[in-house]
Amino acid sequence: MQIEFAASRPTGDYALVIPSAGPNRPAAKSLDDKAKVEAALKRQRFEGDSGSTADLVADENGKSRRLIVVGTGSDSLPEQAAEKLGGTAVSKLLTSGESHAVIDLGGLDYDADSAARVALAAALRSWRYDHYRTKQKDKQKPTLKTVTIVGGGDGAEQRWKSRWEPVVEGVGLTRELVTEPANIIYPESFVERCRGLAKLGIELDVLDAAAMRKLGMGALLGVAQGSVREGRLLVLRWNGGNQGDAPVAFVGKGVTFDTGGISIKPAQGMESMKWDMGGAGAVVGAMKALALRKAKANIVGICGLVENMPGGNAQRPGDVVTTMSGQTVEVINTDAEGRLVLADAVAYVQRTYKPTTIVDLATLTGAILISLAHEYAGLFTPDDELAKHLMKAADESGDKLWRMPLGEAFDRMLDSDIADMKNVGPREGGSITAAQFIKRFIEEGVRWAHLDIAGMAWSDKPSSTYAKGATGFGVRLLDQFVADNLEG
Ligand code: BES
Ligand code: MN
Ligand code: ZN
Repeated sequence: MQIEFAASRPTGDYALVIPSAGPNRPAAKSLDDKAKVEAALKRQRFEGDSGSTADLVADENGKSRRLIVVGTGSDSLPEQAAEKLGGTAVSKLLTSGESHAVIDLGGLDYDADSAARVALAAALRSWRYDHYRTKQKDKQKPTLKTVTIVGGGDGAEQRWKSRWEPVVEGVGLTRELVTEPANIIYPESFVERCRGLAKLGIELDVLDAAAMRKLGMGALLGVAQGSVREGRLLVLRWNGGNQGDAPVAFVGKGVTFDTGGISIKPAQGMESMKWDMGGAGAVVGAMKALALRKAKANIVGICGLVENMPGGNAQRPGDVVTTMSGQTVEVINTDAEGRLVLADAVAYVQRTYKPTTIVDLATLTGAILISLAHEYAGLFTPDDELAKHLMKAADESGDKLWRMPLGEAFDRMLDSDIADMKNVGPREGGSITAAQFIKRFIEEGVRWAHLDIAGMAWSDKPSSTYAKGATGFGVRLLDQFVADNLEG
């Protein structure tokens, strides 16, 4: 999507988008026959509710053109209203036959950031992946090529370029990785898709199976051994902060396909396990966004990449593996593989980069969907301060979090009769014991939070910032967390 900013409406052919808080309050003034438009809105029972739309034809400067009136409601914050406006306009026009949309912000008195967020949401909502469609019907093809934002005021375009366009690029990469099927994206090819990030100044390091064996990553390798695809550990470093400052680490679960292994999953819905690398995808997308906007922070991103398959060499329920930390794990259920991957990934990042803080993201448990549906990702951390900062970033970014409990009693549910711990607890509290498991690999003095994003990485229905499919959840959250806490 081409995004443009202009001081006044252009000439030529386009669909005009006008925000409105109600049938008698279309925001932009210069419609030839305002009364007629208002009457049409009333007849369509348009009441200006946030996200509602009316589609009509109106005269402007003596010319008839399509007019989309978008409700802006009255109660939401300007930033949120702005995103809803940009996203709603694009979802309405993307395949409408129109190729150019002009969104007129006249009368809204948005600041530069809010005006730029109209562009942000428009760009996010327009993302789609048509790579594998060779026979798309004309009417299903997107037609909208350009969105012009009018009346955003000074600084809006600059704000878009410097702050939000990088985020759109990052989210796009995450969505691409998450959308790709598992015959295309597997540990090695995931790494290859990320190589281009080096051009942005990101340093890449890749550990293959032999390197991980040397380091004693028995948990990650135990998951990988059931597949003919080798596992990988991908390290991405962005050093935009002061030289020598300890980094913050983002760690992602990158299970490129999760069959469950020998504890195999039912066939129904198993195809969705191609997006079990959504945590790793979010880490990569966030790194891209941070590099593009030259964030003043030192960040290390780690992706634990494996394919969980039930091959002849697959690990068995009851196997005991030794992790990089030295702790041993009895693998009761090979489908609880994400935590095994993360155990070694967090051990590696702590030993190698001594981060002050670790935030891990993982499509870790089905149980988090029972708790929070598709409304929030679960936030687990013993650190109230870190919880506060992440909750704030969640509010600002729209990547919503809900804090969940941790505690001794949950931790004890992982005790094993043969090893230091089991990889699963009882069914009850399944997301919490999963978090407790990761916590056992976090060293004294390191701040840590775990985000269970199993309900958020993919959506079966569109919103104002994504179509159905990969959402890119986590990119905006991490980007905002860095902006708020690490960039002064
Ligand atoms: N990748 C799944 C979790 C998941 C489920 C993600 C549904 C997205 C949608 C994870 O590896 C898994 O299989 N978890 C098990 C854990 C259980 C065996 C303790 C689960 O949630 O059932
Ligand atoms: Mn699993
Ligand atoms: Zn999984």
